[in-house]
Amino acid sequence: MIRQHRAFEPHPGSVSAARDFVTAVLSEWAASGPHPLLGAAQLVVSELASNAVLHARTPFAVEVSADGDVLIAVADESGAAPVMRRPSPDALDGRGLYLVDQTSEEWGFDPTDGGKRVWCRLAPSPY
Ligand SMILES: Nc1ncnc2c1ncn2[C@@H]1O[C@H](COP(=O)(O)OP(=O)(O)OP(=O)(O)O)[C@@H](O)[C@H]1O
Ligand SMILES: [Mg+2]
Repeated sequence: MIRQHRAFEPHPGSVSAARDFVTAVLSEWAASGPHPLLGAAQLVVSELASNAVLHARTPFAVEVSADGDVLIAVADESGAAPVMRRPSPDALDGRGLYLVDQTSEEWGFDPTDGGKRVWCRLAPSPY
């Protein structure tokens, strides 16, 4: 298992910084060419980091680990739980966790000392 993490402040610009961090880590870990899970990892970290900025509104840490699958986790300092919504067709938001759910093998969240850690597991295509 290899793992890297970085802390971010709860500012809008931290979402692209978190995406850049994940991109750099996975590019470093890729044997050659782009990492096969790069696009999926960029999508889920964008959603989880924007939730930390918009909903938790606390500093947050992004963690990337790999053991074949890639695990992306975002830990913030709010105890409020992430709740996957069923947005109506004309709703303009409320799809972030649904996208994470559809993109990942599994996702969940665990309480931490000062808040929670939302994580998801991305698996490489078997083909
Ligand atoms: N890190 C978080 N801390 C606190 N509440 C959260 C967090 N992440 C999600 N939530 C709660 O779960 C709800 C659903 O999150 P989701 O990302 O699916 O939708 P959204 O953020 O409201 O809209 P969108 O992601 O489409 O912009 C949020 O509206 C919020 O109430
Ligand atoms: Mg969201």
